[in-house]
Amino acid sequence: MMQDTIARVRAEIAAYDLTTAEQLDQFRIAYTGRKGQLADLFDQLKTVPQEERRAVGQELNQLKQLAQARFEERQQELEAASANAPADPTFDYTLPTVPQALGTRHPLSLVREEIVRILARIGFNVAEGPEIEDDWHNFTALNFPENHPARDMQDTFFVRREPGEAEWVLRTHTSPVQVRVMKSQQPPIRSIMPGRVYRNEAISARAHMMFHQVEALFVDENVSFADLKQTVYYFVQELFGNDMQVRFRPSFFPFTEPSAEIDITCLICKGKGCNICKGTGWVEIGGCGMVDPAVLEQSGIDPERYSGYAWGMGIERITMLKYQIKDLRLFTENDTRFLRQFEGVQ
Ligand code: DAH
Repeated sequence: MMQDTIARVRAEIAAYDLTTAEQLDQFRIAYTGRKGQLADLFDQLKTVPQEERRAVGQELNQLKQLAQARFEERQQELEAASANAPADPTFDYTLPTVPQALGTRHPLSLVREEIVRILARIGFNVAEGPEIEDDWHNFTALNFPENHPARDMQDTFFVRREPGEAEWVLRTHTSPVQVRVMKSQQPPIRSIMPGRVYRNEAISARAHMMFHQVEALFVDENVSFADLKQTVYYFVQELFGNDMQVRFRPSFFPFTEPSAEIDITCLICKGKGCNICKGTGWVEIGGCGMVDPAVLEQSGIDPERYSGYAWGMGIERITMLKYQIKDLRLFTENDTRFLRQFEGVQ
């Protein structure tokens, strides 16, 4: 009988031991909560014969009020008790606090973000690709011939594979992301692609097996080498200052035609010639060129209609020039005496 159950629950509620906060919580779950006994009883109300339903319903409502009143009263008491709890009289408030050392941004992150900000202002977005890359994106689609030395084990980290499986490498540059971007969208394309790259090199002050590059790619109708030069001038002057000069030196990359190397005024001697720039007054910051029509075609873009430029730069190199850091290994050693010097740099 429903009335018997109500009477039993009422007795339970009245006698429930509500000493601790845990007990109060259990009480709520058992009775007033969404899946508690009261909700159950309200559900059963529809099984009570019509003529009794009104009376039983009233009893149930009273029971609910009782349960809620007990709960709220005890909750308030417990809250008040914890707020007034006496402080530990043995605690010494004059003790010094434990210093909380704040970390600093890594110089490579600072420079990467500055590069992204500078190029975002002229409409470039950021794209990313995988660090474990297949041979096709890293080499083939970029026009590297089958026997190119970069495909050699001496320069590239190959990922172990089962016989017959495709070749996987740790990407040796960020250029494969160009291919991924072009395959996934049609022009206009204005993207930069920062990321980590790997090469099988002995670690020294000037070389590392893991470093960072940032790639830029611009594809549209009527893009010319003049657009490339203008963007590089803007970029270099925003990053290093208005008095910087830029020089394009003819070069070769399999995926650009024509290709050039980008030199800027040596920051150490301001162009006068020193041992860093080997007396030339210039230092190299990256490679660039017009995207080879074969690369556009391989990536699903019509080279008759569109042209594009690309460049790739080393973020470590730019950071070393900007902050006059002389050893590449400092970037990965996590020596806080080095890292703390970048505190507060935006
Ligand atoms: N991927 C080249 C490297 O790692 C750099 C590079 C040169 C990227 C020319 C480019 C480019 O996008 O156009 O040495």
